[in-house]
Amino acid sequence: MSEQNVNMPEARERIAKIVEDTDSLPSLPTIVMKLIDVVNSAESSAEDAAELIEKDPALTTKMIRLANSAFYGIPRSISSVTSAVVVLGFNTIRSLVLSASVAKIFEGKHSLDMDRFWKHSVVTAMASKIIVRHLMSVRMMDPESAFCAGVLHDIGKLIFSQYMADDYATVCDYAKEHKVPLIEAENKCLGFNHAEMGKILADRWSLPLDLEYTIVHHHGPENADKVSHLANIIHLADIISHDVGCNLWDDEVRVQESAQCRAELKIGDADFEKIMSNIENSLDKSQEFLAILK
Ligand SMILES: [Fe+2]
Ligand SMILES: [Fe+2]
Repeated sequence: MSEQNVNMPEARERIAKIVEDTDSLPSLPTIVMKLIDVVNSAESSAEDAAELIEKDPALTTKMIRLANSAFYGIPRSISSVTSAVVVLGFNTIRSLVLSASVAKIFEGKHSLDMDRFWKHSVVTAMASKIIVRHLMSVRMMDPESAFCAGVLHDIGKLIFSQYMADDYATVCDYAKEHKVPLIEAENKCLGFNHAEMGKILADRWSLPLDLEYTIVHHHGPENADKVSHLANIIHLADIISHDVGCNLWDDEVRVQESAQCRAELKIGDADFEKIMSNIENSLDKSQEFLAILK
């Protein structure tokens, strides 16, 4: 694509329609919306969550398989959703249900390679969790909330890739040809990027606000109006995921690491090395999670 025709006015119009028309985007299944409420309520029991999940047989099977997978490494076998909820905890169940539902909602034709997309997302999620565990001694944050944000951080790309497949293929070609990060190509060609599109979806799905804020700022945590540890963590995890080879195409150019990200998280060079080797050692585990997710 030459410099002269990078502006894609028709694609911009399609985006405006998606943003303005509330019916244009997929909705989150009622079961998942209710489950998020159950998980957020202090009065809920494992049975309340299990009762909801069991209404969906496909989701039930996925939950049981995931709970028994090497990904979680639970030493005993889990045969019911209630025990899966008890053993894994509410927040893990929320991550699993959201991941499985999003994968289901967006199955079908895409311009992006979905195997690579999900691998990037799941490895980002695993890296986020590892970073939080590493930081546990200095700061309390739930590793599962970070995992969930990691899985969903690039959700805006799914809208572009499925709802505007041809336009987005052109945007990817621009990024490849000019060797620029995809978000830069989106801004240049579409005047709108996947972080902004992710916000629209998070808003429509009433996802927790910290999750929405993280999706919006994952490429530029320094531009957020307040320091967000979660946005910094996902930003760093996203970069690590790229650097261990989990990208959308070979030689995909990633964004620059935000200058103050590691300092704000108080991650020194030695910490970073430990985090990297931990992630490299966990890469195999992502395969099993991915196989069950789809
Ligand atoms: Fe992104
Ligand atoms: Fe990403």
